[in-house]
Amino acid sequence: MCGIVGIVGRNSVAPQLVDALKRLEYRGYDSAGVATLDKGRLNRRRAEGKLINLENMLQQDPLDGTVGIGHTRWATHGAPTQNNAHPHFGDGVAVVHNGIIENFSEIKETLISEGVHFTTQTDTEVIAQLLASLLRQGKTTHQAMQQIMQRLKGAYALAVLFANDANQIICARNGPPLAIGHGDGEMYLGSDAIALSPFTDDITYLDDGDWAVITRDSAEIFDDQGRRVERPRSKASSAYAQVEKGNHRHFMEKEIYEQPEVISHTLAHYVDFSNGTIRKLPDEIDFASIESLKIAACGSAFYAGQIGKGWLERYARLPVEIDVASEFRYREMPLPGNQAALFVSQSGETADTLASLRYCKENGLPIGTIVNVRESTMARESDVVFQTLAGPEIGVASTKALTCQMAVFAALSISAGMARGVLDANQEKAMVRALSEAPRIANSVLNLIQPQMESLSRELSKYNHVLYLGRGSNYTLALEGALKLKEISYIHAEGYAAGELKHGPIALIDENMPVIVIAPHDRYFEKTVSNMQEVSARGGRIIFITDEDGAKACKLETMATIVLPNVDEFIMPLIFMLPIQLLAYHTAVFMGTDVDQPRNLAKSVTVE
Ligand code: G6P
Repeated sequence: MCGIVGIVGRNSVAPQLVDALKRLEYRGYDSAGVATLDKGRLNRRRAEGKLINLENMLQQDPLDGTVGIGHTRWATHGAPTQNNAHPHFGDGVAVVHNGIIENFSEIKETLISEGVHFTTQTDTEVIAQLLASLLRQGKTTHQAMQQIMQRLKGAYALAVLFANDANQIICARNGPPLAIGHGDGEMYLGSDAIALSPFTDDITYLDDGDWAVITRDSAEIFDDQGRRVERPRSKASSAYAQVEKGNHRHFMEKEIYEQPEVISHTLAHYVDFSNGTIRKLPDEIDFASIESLKIAACGSAFYAGQIGKGWLERYARLPVEIDVASEFRYREMPLPGNQAALFVSQSGETADTLASLRYCKENGLPIGTIVNVRESTMARESDVVFQTLAGPEIGVASTKALTCQMAVFAALSISAGMARGVLDANQEKAMVRALSEAPRIANSVLNLIQPQMESLSRELSKYNHVLYLGRGSNYTLALEGALKLKEISYIHAEGYAAGELKHGPIALIDENMPVIVIAPHDRYFEKTVSNMQEVSARGGRIIFITDEDGAKACKLETMATIVLPNVDEFIMPLIFMLPIQLLAYHTAVFMGTDVDQPRNLAKSVTVE
């Protein structure tokens, strides 16, 4: 969370810093600020709330200086006030920080006992004050940086301006990512390459423990031992440049409607549609011989993993254990025998997922990652990367990244099923055919249900609580549906396995809590309809998401029935995800919430 940028430029950098920050707002939007160095003086502007407030402030009160740093914040320590906004100052030092300094209290106490006066509640201010204190003791900027990196515990990506050196920014990385951009007589740094896309696509990523001195025409990188090191330069994907909403009201809407295309791109990477076969996968993970697979992920990526588990167990007879990464990383589970681990992440930077990956790596498991950002830390630390080709996802609520993750899992399950001798060539062909139909069906479903979703959302927005029910993969869709609705519309929602209804949630059923039942005509259908009967008998109001066969077979009265075309059971989760996304989206739009940047959330969660 939080995004940081820095520019050592030739002209006044404040407008460029704001431009870069716009592309990082998905990382947090509680407050924002920039600092520049102008004639040996550090100056800053900081504003509470969205970046637009900082932009307005800078218009009224511009900031000169050709070297500067900027920050967009997701508050951890200290309320999201102007005073707690970055950059933070110590004497002659300005700092922006992404991450958490775990031992900040201890450092703060020591500095206070030395007479340092703190002005904010943030953990970041200790970095600025500690650096200032080291400079007062006669250390050079380089010595001070080296020393604080030994002293700080926790996760950080930092950019620092020193008033006594007008021509450089020093940055450091321990955990959250940091990209250096090479320009023509200008240099840049940012939390990711997207931030730098207006200026350059020539990128160097720092490794964990690295710090770097950035001047107008060079970046000198040092490792955690202070040794000068070279890190590779690479071209950032051109897709990063296209992060505009187009004709859509929100990024989330755009991303929902991009799904047919990006699912198709992703599938084409793994599936040879002309031959009806799965392409050969890299053999770092031997799906034929492993006895089990561990999966960990967070948020919507976790639900993609849960759908993947269902497919891998059913179609490849591969036992899969899955857990949310924040639990996985601390379970201290034994990892004996012939296993592999697979991590799922849009950003490739989520702190808990990355820590789970490292746990499995330390335990010697082959590591695979299903990841959208090719240059991310998880991608770089994995033995094999299964890339999703979703393109940049900006809306905080994941949509296209999630369905692309599912598309990869679908391909992997066929591949693993073939490798393990569970599926034969005819089954492979039939499943590939079903997958090849998914983008076209997704497109027609999105157009078909849009008007109904809009009017239903109006109705749904009148309620304070919603229950989602489903069985099998539809249980996962129920969980994802509840997550989507609560995160962007702020309506309380819960997802339940339909069979668990009678073990608790049935007590809540009355006319004030709509129950959204996801039940295409699959092998669970009759059972789920029985659960719907139980809801109906207690005066519950049902929104029924089903297919043509399901609609024909169920005679129950509903508040609304959304009928999708009949599709092959294999691709049902991909198609039934769409009404779930649209319902949450339109409800949030109707309620007037900030759909792309819902309160308190951030897209890239680089802290625990
Ligand atoms: C946040 C986002 C979610 C995302 C989750 C995991 O909570 O709001 O949309 O699913 O993080 O992120 P990752 O980048 O690891 O997929």
